[in-house]
Amino acid sequence: MRRIAVLTSGGDAPGMNACIRAVVRYGLSAGVQVYGVRKGYQGLIENLIVELDSRSVSGVVRMGGTMLMSARSDDFQTEAGLKRAIEVLRGWDIDGLVVIGGDGSLRGALALHKSGFPVVGVPASIDNDVPGTEMSIGVDTALNTILEAIDRIKDTAAALQRAFVIEVMGRNHGYLALMAGIAGGAEMVILPGSRISRDQVVEEVKSAFLRGKPHFIIVAAEGASTPTKSISELLSEYVSASGHDVRTTVLGHVQRGGSPTCYDRLLGTRFGAAAVDCLLKGQSGVMVGVKANQIVVSDLETILSAAPELSEETLRLAEPLAH
Ligand code: F6P
Repeated sequence: MRRIAVLTSGGDAPGMNACIRAVVRYGLSAGVQVYGVRKGYQGLIENLIVELDSRSVSGVVRMGGTMLMSARSDDFQTEAGLKRAIEVLRGWDIDGLVVIGGDGSLRGALALHKSGFPVVGVPASIDNDVPGTEMSIGVDTALNTILEAIDRIKDTAAALQRAFVIEVMGRNHGYLALMAGIAGGAEMVILPGSRISRDQVVEEVKSAFLRGKPHFIIVAAEGASTPTKSISELLSEYVSASGHDVRTTVLGHVQRGGSPTCYDRLLGTRFGAAAVDCLLKGQSGVMVGVKANQIVVSDLETILSAAPELSEETLRLAEPLAH
C-alpha cells in the first residue's frame, strides 16, 4: 500500500475534519502518500482528487463540516458510476480508500470492496444509526447543540408556563431525541415508532402542570412524523387540545454544524488512524468502530444487514425521569 485516499460522503458530521487530518498525518508518518477526494463519491466520478500533506490539514481539527466537501451521489449508485470511480482511483495509482460517512456512504464502500477495490469505512452520522459502533462521529457535538437549545427554551417556557415541541433530527432512529430528552430533562420523548394518542398527550400535559411543573417540553425525533404531518405539527395540535399554550421549534440543520466537541475530535482522530492501520494490514470491506472505549473492526456487510438499536437500559429511564 503506497497511496491511499480519503473521502467524506452523505450528511456531514462535526469531527469529519479531525478524521481526515488523522488519515493524512498518520498515513504520512506510516510512509504512504495521501490523497483527498472532494465532494464524496460524486468527486470520484468527476476526478476531483488532490494530494494532501500535513499543512493541508492545519487548523481543521476545530472545524465543523468537511474540508473535502460532501455529496449524496445518484451517479455512483449505478453500475457505470461504480466502474468509473474505480477507474479514476486506479488512474491515480491509489491502492486503498477510507470512506467517512453514514449508512448510505458505507453501502457505497461495500460496493467498492465487492468490486475488488480495498476500502475501509468510518462511521460518521449525527443520527448514531450505524450498527457496529457505540458512537459515530458527530453525535456528541449534535447532542450538545440540542442540549443548549433545550436549556434556552426551558428558560422562556418556564417564564410563560408554556409547552414546547422541540423537533430534532433522526430520520429512522431516535438516538438524538432519547439522549437529549433525558439529559435535557424533557417531560416527554417521542421516537420513530412511538405510539402517540391525543388523549394521552392531553392527560400528561395537564397532569404535569398540576404537579407544579413550570413547562412541558417534548423532544421529538423527525422520524416520528406521519406521511401527512410533521411530528411537531401533530404534537402541537395534541398539546393545544389540553388548553395550554404551545410553541414549536424545529432545530434542523443547526444540529449538524459547529465546532466538534473534544469527544468528536478524539473519536475522529482515533477512527482515522485505525482506518489507515486496517488498510496497511491489507484489510478491506471492514468498518472501524468503538465499543467499551476500545477500537473495534467489523465486517461491513454484517453491520449493514443489522438494524440500529437503542439501549433498553436508557429507554427505561426516559419516563420516570420526566416526572
Ligand atoms: O443523516 C443525517 C441527517 O442529518 C438526518 O438526521 C436528516 O434527516 C438528514 O441528514 C437531512 O439530510 P439533508 O441534509 O440532505 O437534508
